[in-house]
Amino acid sequence: MVTLIKLCEQADFQEKLCVRVEHPEDANKSIVVIQGQDGVYAYENICPHYSVQLDYKTGVFNTYKNRQIMCAHHSAMFDITTGECVDGPCKGHSLTAVQVEVKEGIVYLKR
Ligand code: FES
Repeated sequence: MVTLIKLCEQADFQEKLCVRVEHPEDANKSIVVIQGQDGVYAYENICPHYSVQLDYKTGVFNTYKNRQIMCAHHSAMFDITTGECVDGPCKGHSLTAVQVEVKEGIVYLKR
């Protein structure tokens, strides 16, 4: 049986590509939810290079051409649709994907 846990609303994106939410199952983690051109993607907000958060300051993420998200620390670039690092010091490694489902404008964590 699938359990859905609300993460955010699509309205939360406004002009932004990324929204940071606290991880509902782990108070020490956060999740970056990304509004892509063809769907919503989500990853644990942890860079595979040095295991630090991707955002510059809380909730502020740098993106490139709406296709990549960049780590604030050493500029690793991750494909938003796969989480794979396509350039930078952890090239070939990936963000940890979080399974999400969107229903009626609400983004849910799928368990
Ligand atoms: S910690 Fe993210 S690129 Fe180094």
